Amino acid sequence: MGRVISIASQKGGVGKTTTAINLGACLAQEGKRVLIVDIDPQGNATSGLGVNGNDQRLSTYEVLIGHAEITEAIMPTALATTLGGRGRARRDAGARDPTAHMLGQGAG
Ligand SMILES: Nc1ncnc2c1ncn2[C@@H]1O[C@H](COP(=O)(O)OP(=O)(O)OP(=O)(O)O)[C@@H](O)[C@H]1O
Ligand SMILES: [Mg+2]
Repeated sequence: MGRVISIASQKGGVGKTTTAINLGACLAQEGKRVLIVDIDPQGNATSGLGVNGNDQRLSTYEVLIGHAEITEAIMPTALATTLGGRGRARRDAGARDPTAHMLGQGAG
C-alpha cells in the first residue's frame, strides 16, 4: 500500500500546488513511484508538470463521474525524462518505472 500525502490549507495562494509538484519531483528523483492527483479545476498541478489539459482524453473529471477507470486516466509526466539521480539509474537497470505519473485535470 502506498503512502498518501495531502497538502492542505484553507488559505488560497500559499503554495499548496507548488509544494505538491516539488515534493513529488523530489520523491521521484529518490526512486519512489509517485502519482500526483490534480482535482483542482484550475489544473495548475497538471500544467505545472508539463501536461496540456487540452490534450487529455481522460481526466480526473471522467474518473469522478464514473466514465473512466482511474488506471485509464493516469499519464506520465515530463519528470520521466527530466529527472536523473537514483530514479534514472534504477530505470536503466530495468526496474519498474519509478518516475512521477499523474491523474490530471483536463481543460473542462
Ligand atoms: N516558496 C515560495 N516562494 C515564493 N513564491 C512561491 C512559493 N511557493 C509558491 N509560490 C508562488 O505563489 C503562488 C501561489 O502558489 P500555488 O499556486 O502553489 O498556491 P496554492 O496554495 O496551490 O493556490 P490555490 O489556493 O489557488 O490552489 C504562485 O505564483 C507560486 O509560484
Ligand atoms: Mg493550488
